[in-house]
Amino acid sequence: MSVGRPGAPGGPRVRLVPGALEVALAARRCTTWPELAAAVRECTACAELAATRRQVVVGDAPAGARLALVGEAPGAEEDAAGRPFVGRAGKLLDELLAAAGLDRDEVAVLNVLRCRPPANRTPRPDEVARCRGWLERSLELVRPDLVVALGLTAAATLLGRGTKLADSRGRVHEVDGRRVLVSYHPSAAIRFGPAGQPRSALAVDLRLAATLLGEHR
Ligand code: URA
Repeated sequence: MSVGRPGAPGGPRVRLVPGALEVALAARRCTTWPELAAAVRECTACAELAATRRQVVVGDAPAGARLALVGEAPGAEEDAAGRPFVGRAGKLLDELLAAAGLDRDEVAVLNVLRCRPPANRTPRPDEVARCRGWLERSLELVRPDLVVALGLTAAATLLGRGTKLADSRGRVHEVDGRRVLVSYHPSAAIRFGPAGQPRSALAVDLRLAATLLGEHR
């Protein structure tokens, strides 16, 4: 396997924090989802997260998934279950996916971080930089037609720092040969309530995703 320089075309996109390159190289060695899942489960690149997590939440990658959702990081329920979006935010996500005509069982569900940050704090930039290698490789292996970033952490990770949710919604971004939509995180939709803007925006954005997938057949 050849690996380019970090930042070079074809090379791993690695922000130079200790451990990030090692993760990116380990991720690149994985050629199948089960290999990647096994490698992620062994990851101890972020000492605090490795010490405090109950489980690594690798993500769901059903065969042939055409849509990938990227959230922020596992919460307490995901940490206990070992699966992404199984708590309250996950229930709402399932509901809004179904309303958009999308079947969660056919959707890849990933997170920027694979370990729960203690007390659900926001992921730190160095953690995002280290875990990025797993995310990039996950997307390369799943090869979805469309990615939806849920919330600012995912949007900024995929589109770059300085991304603003409100400005980035409603259009397709082409990033590294990938089509990316941006939306609110289901937790924001819960926080602002059923009549709040994040919930209606997330519903609209998932319908847009379904439409784009229909057009892309
Ligand atoms: N929030 C996330 O961002 N991801 C999960 O898996 C659960 C809650």
